[in-house]
Amino acid sequence: MKGVILAGGLGTRLRPITNVTNKHLLPVYNKPMIYYPLETLMKAGIKDILIVSGPEHAGHFLHLLGSGKEFGVSLSYELQDEPGGIAQALGLAEDFSDTEPVAAILGDNIFEDDLSDVIKKFMSSPSGGHIFLKEVTDPQRFGVAEVAGDKIVKIIEKPKKPTSNLAVTGLYLYDSQVFSVIKTLKPSGRGELEITDVNNAYVGQGKMTFTVVKGSWTDAGTFESLLRANLQAARQQGVNLQ
Ligand code: G1P
Repeated sequence: MKGVILAGGLGTRLRPITNVTNKHLLPVYNKPMIYYPLETLMKAGIKDILIVSGPEHAGHFLHLLGSGKEFGVSLSYELQDEPGGIAQALGLAEDFSDTEPVAAILGDNIFEDDLSDVIKKFMSSPSGGHIFLKEVTDPQRFGVAEVAGDKIVKIIEKPKKPTSNLAVTGLYLYDSQVFSVIKTLKPSGRGELEITDVNNAYVGQGKMTFTVVKGSWTDAGTFESLLRANLQAARQQGVNLQ
């Protein structure tokens, strides 16, 4: 199984702190943000990892992470020329994946739980897709999953009136069909190829399973969530904050 870290985008919601750097290189407590998704993949034993970023600061990722030798993994790099959405960025990993299944993670997603058991289980017989859901108090900010029993009914991207409080987190496991699915997508209202459309294609085929994450999870793309990410990361590392 191959790993893909999606670290593109302009980070416009974090301006001016993203004016001269990439969001995923910003500090989250004591490490650059991208270390956290990298560790999530590494813990699951994934050793071959592609980092997709925009051209503006791509060299900084290389400077920071290099070949991956220091982390005991092999890192590759790919450029997303223009921000065209998470699914478009993932599509750039097709050659890298070499028909293997992929674990794709957003570069600003920080999980407290060790998810390696679920990832390893999927790896042992990769079929369809698997997503990770988290109960949140502000679901309208995310992709939201409507669930019936152990089935996902549908996922709605940033619904105005969410029908559940289960956010779709930014860790996605897919079989090698994902690249054919991406090729069928049309840009959404915001002009992007949406990862939610990829997930709904698997849901429509009855091939999407899920895990509800118990521990803390956050993304870090807004000032509030970046602050939350810092606090979560500090607590995870045993810091006692007032
Ligand atoms: C993206 C996805 C959304 C998901 C979120 C998780 O949102 O589109 O479905 O819930 O990541 O971090 P974005 O950060 O692009 O607003």
